[in-house]
Formats: sequence, structure tokens, C-alpha cells
Amino acid sequence: MRLGIISALAEEQQGLIEALQSPARHVHGMREYTAGKLWEIDAVCVLSRIGKVAAAMTAAILVEKFGVTHIVFTGVAGSGDKNVKVGDIVVADSLIQHDFDASPLFPKFEIPLTGLSSFATDVALTDRLADAASTITRVHRGLIASGDQFIGKLGQIQTLKAALPDLLAVEMEGAAVAQVCFELGIPFALIRTISDNANDDAAVDFMHFIKTVASRYAFDVIQNFCKA
Ligand code: ADE
Repeated sequence: MRLGIISALAEEQQGLIEALQSPARHVHGMREYTAGKLWEIDAVCVLSRIGKVAAAMTAAILVEKFGVTHIVFTGVAGSGDKNVKVGDIVVADSLIQHDFDASPLFPKFEIPLTGLSSFATDVALTDRLADAASTITRVHRGLIASGDQFIGKLGQIQTLKAALPDLLAVEMEGAAVAQVCFELGIPFALIRTISDNANDDAAVDFMHFIKTVASRYAFDVIQNFCKA
């Protein structure tokens, strides 16, 4: 396995780059890719920056230029369900692009020519990630929705939840990486720590969480994952 590890922001991956043994840095397309050994696993860490296009580009380059065979995304998300609380972890079983709508040409949410509205994550990789998280905090598994919007108004999350009743969390990159991995045949898994409730308090909660808890969680989960 050569593992690509993507996060949007530095706080979501803090400590991991420092933990890489024999690090080799490469700058490409305005991103820094650091390759090395992470607890015996051959790994490449990178920050995608925010949004679906940024994440898709990063994932494709990890595969095509850096030769990764598996991808894990780690970061934070807004809650999409009343039982999913700040500090909980959500591991994705599937991901949907909530702002994708080519209707009436294709059904809402469906990605044209794939016949799919959501992309499933790799079961073995996802099981390993969920196990790695289970010693750290409460873990949920299910549907995560991604879009090029920070969800920071109660009305927004209510509208999304009405359209996607199984929704557990919202973020801005995962489903784009899931599509890239599906199309390139790369096993993919994603973990998100809940930083906010995607409501009117979301922006303040997000900023607080990202500065305090986010980095510790990502480090601990990935360490457990690599050592398993
Ligand atoms: N990432 C963390 N919180 C989020 C939110 N409320 N909306 C979108 N992405 C997020």
C-alpha cells in the first residue's frame, strides 16, 4: 500500500507531516506533497485546500503523479443529524455531491454517465478507519454530503436534511475525492470529526474547534490506522 492522506486545512492534518520519517517534499500545482514513512506505511500527505475542485485535483495528482494506491481523507464537518454531536466522528459509507443538479437531463444528485448519485467508500479501508477511531470518541457511519458551500444557516441544513434524510454530516471535499477514486479505481475512505452543527453558530464553532481539537483527533486516528 502507498497511502495518500488528504485534508483541506493544515489544522486537520497537524502532526502527521512531522511524524513522516525520511520526508521528501515536492511542490506541484500550488500544493506541497510530502512523501515518507508513517508508522511503517509508505505515505504521501497533502493539503487540498477547500472545495470540490481543489480536492478533486489533489486526489488525481496523488494517484497519477505520486503513485498512491489508496486514499484516506481526514478533516472536520458540520453535523447533519441531531444524534451526531460536536466531537463525534463520522466515517463515510457513501458520499453525495449535494449541490449537483443536472435535472431535467439527469435526476438531481446523479453524476452524469456514472449512473450514480452517491459513491460508496471502500469497505475494508473504512472498517479499518472506523476501528482506529473507535478508541478515541463516539463513531457514526453513514452518508456524508459535500458541496461548495459552508453550511452556516439553520435553513440551509434543514433543506439538505429534508432532501437527504440519511445525512450524517456536511463538508466541502469528500464526495469529489470519492468520485475521482471511483473513476480511477482507487480504494477510498473518509473520516470527519464534527466541529459544528451547520446552523447559525457554525462559523464561530468551526473556528474554535479547528484551533483546539481537530488536529489531535486526526493525528490519533491516523496513528491507530497505520499501526493496525
Ligand atoms: N466543514 C465543517 N463545518 C462545515 C459546515 N458547517 N459546512 C460545510 N463544511 C464544513
